[in-house]
Amino acid sequence: MEILHVSAECYPVAKAGGLGDVVGALPKFLTAAGHIAKVVMPMYRTKYLYEHKWEVVHKSSTYLGNTWFDYTIIKESKNLLGFDLYLVDINGLLDREKIYGYADDIERFMSFQIAVVDWLSSWKHHPDVIHVHDHHTALIPFMIKYCYQYQALADIPTVLTIHNAQYQGWIDWSKSDYIPHWDGWRWGTLDWNNMINPLAAGIKSAWKVTTVSWSYLYEMRQESNGLEALFEYEKGKCVGILNGIDTKVWDPEKDSYLDEHFSVKTLEKGKKANKDALCAEFGLHPDKPLIVFIGRLVGEKAADLLPAAIGDSLYFIDQRMNFLVLGSGEPDVEYELSNMRNYWMGYYNSRIGYNEKLSHQMYAGADFLLMPSRVEPCGLNQMYAMRYGTVPLVRRTGGLRDTVIDIGEPGGYGICFNQASVGDITNAVYRAVELYEDQEKFSKIRRQLMKLDFSWDNSAEQYLDVYKSLLP
Ligand code: ADP
Ligand code: GLC
Repeated sequence: MEILHVSAECYPVAKAGGLGDVVGALPKFLTAAGHIAKVVMPMYRTKYLYEHKWEVVHKSSTYLGNTWFDYTIIKESKNLLGFDLYLVDINGLLDREKIYGYADDIERFMSFQIAVVDWLSSWKHHPDVIHVHDHHTALIPFMIKYCYQYQALADIPTVLTIHNAQYQGWIDWSKSDYIPHWDGWRWGTLDWNNMINPLAAGIKSAWKVTTVSWSYLYEMRQESNGLEALFEYEKGKCVGILNGIDTKVWDPEKDSYLDEHFSVKTLEKGKKANKDALCAEFGLHPDKPLIVFIGRLVGEKAADLLPAAIGDSLYFIDQRMNFLVLGSGEPDVEYELSNMRNYWMGYYNSRIGYNEKLSHQMYAGADFLLMPSRVEPCGLNQMYAMRYGTVPLVRRTGGLRDTVIDIGEPGGYGICFNQASVGDITNAVYRAVELYEDQEKFSKIRRQLMKLDFSWDNSAEQYLDVYKSLLP
């Protein structure tokens, strides 16, 4: 089979979160299973672009509404990622340093999708499946079904994976002419609550819809930022497939970001060396449990609760632990997490920003990773943490529910709580401190964590089953 993934992110080219990790990994495993996987994404001005060799494979022009634009498709020459990687260059729109966050994101991702479909219509053959990810690419299934000029593509099966239904890419109807001349009878497919809703249009138009954990699949029918009724209606074509992790990129024995490598056999020594280095860098106590948070500082991740939960934990549990936070996001949360450093110096520190290397060092050096998420479709952090022998403290939601079993249950290896609240987080921190102080039990659990298998093999197989079910 030949599968074309279309995505806004792909690690290591450009990544803002888990979407990048998944699109950087799944195609490798599809290739390893004997299939042809390709990825096409926007050509942002990232380091990866400048450090690699590219060849031009297609150049053309088309319309975004009334604006004529040129686009170029380039391909990484050496196939270094283990799959064909294509970038779409559109000057003036995609040639930026960041992936998201510009006032013209609607125009940027709309023109990207149009360019991809336009390019595809010039192929001599068709891919067997087009697999799109999240709202930035979710109009493609609609376009190939209902835009007159792309009718030749209409029979290609499409799969939409929802990594996060909170973001839907809403577009005002006044911009409907951006979509290349389409069948006007289909306006209802684009519409959700009087807006063009790309995610909703993708759910209605794609042949199959997947999301990234079983629990999230169920939760979307109860709470999905306004799309609940649609998920209920379309549940017959929706499947939950838990993400895997790329165990080659995330390998404590070989991770190039770490100074001290370790395996299950050398866990105590390796974790200690990594923890000592982190504590020295951030002025923390290496003999106390180190609890870290890594992620986007947004409401979904309950990052707004961190200042109070960290403060309460330090105050009420007698500073028996340290905290280290890495993240960026909402300015007021960033501000509070920075300000607290002075008050809790020696017990708490933070780094505001995105730092891939530090994130690896934190998974390796921490004792516990906190994820109090309000919404977590899958969550990769907890799986990375476990692979590096770090005990997850997670709220029971979405993929966190599906991947972490509480130590109070048979075979359990993590600490789970029910509410995204300061009280529940503080209580989980208390349980973590107690566990840490029982060194024998703590050590046994860390060993157990490192042996868990969250690799892609199984999940890639499930995606293949989905693709196969769509072929004639
Ligand atoms: P989401 O995609 O919702 O942000 P995931 O848990 O699926 O959440 O994936 C987050 C990914 O982004 C992980 O690889 C995590 O290590 C990484 N990440 C998040 N914030 C940062 C940051 N500030 N610095 C480095 N890596 C980060
Ligand atoms: C999204 C989700 C996250 C998931 C990731 C990869 O960003 O918020 O939970 O792990 O996508 O699927």
